[in-house]
Amino acid sequence: MGITPVVRLPIESEDMSNNTHIQSKSRLQSARARPAQATTWIPSNTIPASKGGATSNRLNYRVQQLPEQITAGREESGRKRSKDFSSFCKPTDLLLTMWLFLAALLGLYFLQRWYRERQTVENLAKKYVFITGCDSGFGNLLARQLDLKGMKVLAGCLTQKGAEELEKATSDRLKTTLLDVTSTESVAAAAEWVKECVGDKGLWGVVNNAGVGTPVGPNEWMTKEDFMKIISVNLLGVIDVTLKMLPLVKRARGRVVNVASVMGRLACFGGGYCPAKFGVEGFSDSLRRDMRSFGVRVSIVEPGAFETAILRTVEDGFKEAWNRAPSNIKEQYGQQYFEAYHRNLVELLQTGSKNLYMVTDSIEHALTSCLPRTRYAAGWDAKLFYIPASYLPTTVADYILTRKQPEPAQKI
Ligand SMILES: NC(=O)c1ccc[n+]([C@@H]2O[C@H](COP(=O)([O-])OP(=O)(O)OC[C@H]3O[C@@H](n4cnc5c(N)ncnc54)[C@H](OP(=O)(O)O)[C@@H]3O)[C@@H](O)[C@H]2O)c1
Repeated sequence: MGITPVVRLPIESEDMSNNTHIQSKSRLQSARARPAQATTWIPSNTIPASKGGATSNRLNYRVQQLPEQITAGREESGRKRSKDFSSFCKPTDLLLTMWLFLAALLGLYFLQRWYRERQTVENLAKKYVFITGCDSGFGNLLARQLDLKGMKVLAGCLTQKGAEELEKATSDRLKTTLLDVTSTESVAAAAEWVKECVGDKGLWGVVNNAGVGTPVGPNEWMTKEDFMKIISVNLLGVIDVTLKMLPLVKRARGRVVNVASVMGRLACFGGGYCPAKFGVEGFSDSLRRDMRSFGVRVSIVEPGAFETAILRTVEDGFKEAWNRAPSNIKEQYGQQYFEAYHRNLVELLQTGSKNLYMVTDSIEHALTSCLPRTRYAAGWDAKLFYIPASYLPTTVADYILTRKQPEPAQKI
């Protein structure tokens, strides 16, 4: 038995008027005149009650076999519909619709992320934040900024002078302590002091900001001590402070914010600075994964070039490294190389932005937002050049970074 095309029929109630009956009849006639039409209306009293005819007041549907012409009509209209559909849905239209849909989805994603990132954590005025390297630069500005926001700032300063000046410029909420991040005793003492200050509440945030930037230059001009000098502050200092403060941060289910650099994504010059910052990135990444289960969030801030004291020391450190370099190294590189490298370095340092808020706002966001980011690229040079360039294939990045580099006197 084959599948037979069918038509749906309305079942009319017995109390339907004759008029309705006539209308139904005329509909039936017109349906017969148009065999291609899929649905045919017939009066219910033509169907025996035993087969579900006029049995209720509800409008029911019954099925009946269709004549073959209707099948033909259906095929015809099907062909017409698919023709219409294909002329409407050209591949280019489909592609465009798909891209528009994806763009709308992406737009929605960024909109909800933007909204959620704007939500700040509650009770900021009761939260303690410890910052290292508050004598100058980002650390100093951040301490003032968070103090103005009403947070309880605990500022680590390298010098007594730096601590006194910061205290004078801020409210009574802000407290300072002397801290040299390269000294294990100094870090332990600072951790003890912080513990006393915060009590049972724990420490909401620790910002590892202290850093030095010199000497930098070609690796061959450096000694192991030069590398250690930077690494002990910029990397080991970060690790030591973090480990000592972590029990207090875990108690508050707080935040760790590490100030790295774009030089921790793209090594543009030799010396200890880039390895130290790459180390900060690696340490922060592994710490973030460790801390997931404890409710502690870890963020990395990657500033580009900013006009602070650290940048002003770079030129002198470079000259010093050249002057100290062994005579055979000086011969291999030559005076011209030194001068050209020096010019490039000065040019690079002059691109430093004066708007330090780009960095401190990122740190503040990492500390106060309900949804802190894992990484913050701070500064236009970071966002538009260094970070995108760090994703390039190595050969392309090498070409870009070395195309203006001078050639040594005794190059092969
Ligand atoms: N400026 C930039 O272009 C830039 C770019 C990327 C990343 N960064 C990073 O940003 C952070 C802050 O630098 P900044 O630009 O604000 O320069 P900065 O003004 O020189 O600040 C660095 C701070 O760290 C302090 N410090 C140095 N050695 C220390 C030690 N052993 N223990 C404790 N504190 C110490 C310094 O104290 P003194 O002032 O007393 O020396 C100073 O207060 C650094 O980690 C740096 O690597 C800076």
